[in-house]
Amino acid sequence: MRTRAAVLYEPKQALAIEELEVLPPRAGEVLVRYVASGVCHSDLHVIQGLMEWRTPVVLGHEGGGVVEAVGPGVSTVQVGDHVLTSYQPSCGRCPYCTIGRPNLCDLRDAPRFTMPDGTTRFRKGDREIFHFFQVSSYAERAVLPEHSVIPIRKDAPLDVVCLVSCGVMAGAGAVINRAHVQPGSSVAVFGCGGVGLNAIQAAALVGAGKIIAVDVFDQKLEWSREFGATHLVNARREDPVARIQQICGRGGADYAIEAIGRPETIDQAFRSVHRGGTVVVVGVAPAGTKLSLDPLLLLQDRALLGTSFGSARQRVDLPLFVDLFMQGKYKLRELISRQIGLDELNHAYELLERGEVRRSVVRYPS
Ligand code: APR
Ligand code: ZN
Ligand code: ZN
Repeated sequence: MRTRAAVLYEPKQALAIEELEVLPPRAGEVLVRYVASGVCHSDLHVIQGLMEWRTPVVLGHEGGGVVEAVGPGVSTVQVGDHVLTSYQPSCGRCPYCTIGRPNLCDLRDAPRFTMPDGTTRFRKGDREIFHFFQVSSYAERAVLPEHSVIPIRKDAPLDVVCLVSCGVMAGAGAVINRAHVQPGSSVAVFGCGGVGLNAIQAAALVGAGKIIAVDVFDQKLEWSREFGATHLVNARREDPVARIQQICGRGGADYAIEAIGRPETIDQAFRSVHRGGTVVVVGVAPAGTKLSLDPLLLLQDRALLGTSFGSARQRVDLPLFVDLFMQGKYKLRELISRQIGLDELNHAYELLERGEVRRSVVRYPS
């Protein structure tokens, strides 16, 4: 079967939009026809060479689609099911899955630039093209392991709810699942991109009091107000730590979420919470980055936490955010600045880098 796809041949090159062959799903695998994919910053890290990945690769990890075929032994989805991608797999049986932390599943120990059996399903002529986190949503069709697809209700628009598959889960999960933000508390969110806006929205959803948005673009700060930010801080014009301390009193915020992925902003987030405060790092720093933090701050009961995939329980949390959206309790359409075709993907990344979009969504022809 043929598919159009966006292929990264080498870091620092443009994505090539071209036709590939997709081989049929094998045992435990699923063929998905993607309806849409969000354009997330993490793929850009790979394009820029800041995150290593096997190339050539079909990128994309925020996908929504319909199951078109299943391989032998697949039991959790069937043809016609609507699914979201889960770029972190879960087996349901390993120690992590068993204790309720399936985002950390043992399956993550295996390389995920191929299918679990070590082979690929994309071909350009004779050449193998690799997968991205076994998801590769910048393609009209892709084969995924069963453990990477999460079935969701069929009445939800896939070109909107695809955002749940990364940006929503990463930002909202950091607030709800990892920081356990309490009603009435204060939350500082560093970075108001696709991920940060979801941290802000989730803080509002759980009833946080002061929600302080920090960014370097005024436009992003204005947008964050729509999602529940109560205070806006432009870190280019003022010291965000001092400003957060002034807004919150008591030496800082109860919680800080870092949704950028830079050592300086992780340090700022760490210094912006008061004694006993909690910091959650969501942003992906370039490989090889080292942090320099004041360790004395840890001795005042501050907690510096990380999170992966919003500490999601994938099969519970992805459908949960879809439900919240369908019930009108969680904004997703407002996160989308532009709907684009696959051809416009390189341009969409330029806009993302320049801070000109919330999220772009690639919409595939049906
Ligand atoms: N201080 C404050 N804000 C900053 C700074 C800074 N020094 N540098 C960048 N920002 C802001 C940008 O202006 C932008 O609004 O951080 C935001 C990052 O948002 P996006 O580029 O849209 O990225 P997003 O998809 O939200 O991902 C954020 O989380 O999942 C990871 O890999 C992803 O590391 C990335 C982070
Ligand atoms: Zn992402
Ligand atoms: Zn597992």
